Amino acid sequence: MSGKAKRLVIAGCGSRGRGYARFAEEYPERAQIVAIAEPRDYYRDLVGDRYGVPAERRYRCWEELAAQPGLGDAALVCTQDDMHEGPAVAFMQKGYHVLLEKPMAPTEAACRNIVAAAHQSGVIFAVCHVLRYTVLTCKVKELIQAGAIGDIVSLQRLEGVGHWHQAHSFVRGHWRNEKESSFMLLAKSCHDVDWIRYVMNERCLRVQSFGALHLFRRENQPAGAADRCTECPAAVESQCPYSALKIYIRDRVQQGRTHWPVDVLTADVSEAGVMKALREGPYGRCVYACDNDVVDNQVVNFEFTGRRTASLTMTAFQESGRKTRIFGTRGALDISGDTIVLDDFLTGKKTTIDTNILNDNSILSGHGGGDGGLMESFMRALETGDASCILSGADETLESHLMVFAAERSRRQQTVEEITD
Ligand SMILES: NC(=O)c1ccc[n+]([C@@H]2O[C@H](COP(=O)([O-])OP(=O)(O)OC[C@H]3O[C@@H](n4cnc5c(N)ncnc54)[C@H](O)[C@@H]3O)[C@@H](O)[C@H]2O)c1
Repeated sequence: MSGKAKRLVIAGCGSRGRGYARFAEEYPERAQIVAIAEPRDYYRDLVGDRYGVPAERRYRCWEELAAQPGLGDAALVCTQDDMHEGPAVAFMQKGYHVLLEKPMAPTEAACRNIVAAAHQSGVIFAVCHVLRYTVLTCKVKELIQAGAIGDIVSLQRLEGVGHWHQAHSFVRGHWRNEKESSFMLLAKSCHDVDWIRYVMNERCLRVQSFGALHLFRRENQPAGAADRCTECPAAVESQCPYSALKIYIRDRVQQGRTHWPVDVLTADVSEAGVMKALREGPYGRCVYACDNDVVDNQVVNFEFTGRRTASLTMTAFQESGRKTRIFGTRGALDISGDTIVLDDFLTGKKTTIDTNILNDNSILSGHGGGDGGLMESFMRALETGDASCILSGADETLESHLMVFAAERSRRQQTVEEITD
């Protein structure tokens, strides 16, 4: 390990914390994990052992870690949505550079507090809006900047959460209930709103939104279904696309696929271990018998400066994936998965550009290379002291978060909301 490696501390060794930690495994000369905070013994030991963190530097909560005299150069804050403000502000006030998971926080006031702490402390600060860093996004920006479609006039974005992903995260899982985490547009589609703002490259003036929880309600439970999939009659269970037995056991564990989302259920990802989690834990619940309240479909319309518009549709009922069309004065981009089709109005030529990267489940490949791109930018900023490579700093993140909060106000109050700030 090089003496120049940046010393990282991690608050929250769940899915995301463990993912970013892998940067230190792939680039040990650039990053070293020196301290961690995690209440769950299994994950604290897993990360601690893997990265050689001394026992006395393995804390049970971020508060204990932050109370120590500065142990590292930067803190990766990977706790849950409603537990971002405390550690982010505390670490910045201690002089740590901070990489903060999205969303910044579930309320506007908490977001503003984090942004103020970033400015006051002067540290390097980035939010994990990983979609800004993907190979695909870099190519889209390059094409737009090169004038390939002229001026952008409007944009249409579809965020297909995916029926099983909705069931996993937003009906049974961490982000199912607003009081316990945050509302759906913030939890899932703050990425999309941020991406739209980044690509439009104009200020948003107004937003309007509609949305509701359509399907995952008690009244939609099929006749004869049990409240837990492991107890559901086979005749009902076998006809349910949302069955936990189908999603976790038949489609994943029995196919040898035991990484995310299976590893969220239990540390024991054997078939017996996952079955036990389904019998006893939250992920075995019938999707019509959970304590969920976040929407499963939402649309947002945006008006931007310069007489430009955009729209976003977020729906559970489309296989996982995002689709975007960008309409310019001289051409259009049709983006699906990793593929961009460029339509040139003058020549009538259609050009297909493949931005696919090898998905080897490494930190570099997560989110179409966005996870790796983000870590690379953050680490480069630490190494050079130049934060210009960070595309998702405090101000741009606050701006797109304010668009999200305004859209949610519009949905609830049936108003058109001005973005004044
Ligand atoms: N950037 C992205 O694309 C993306 C994707 C998924 C999730 N996220 C966000 O990342 C964050 C973490 O999500 P996750 O899926 O890793 O969740 P997770 O539940 O797997 O991880 C959170 C971890 O924080 C730990 N924790 C709880 N209290 C703590 C404390 N006091 N001190 C330290 N650790 C504590 C939990 O035990 C857990 O291990 C969330 O805010 C989520 O919205 C971002």
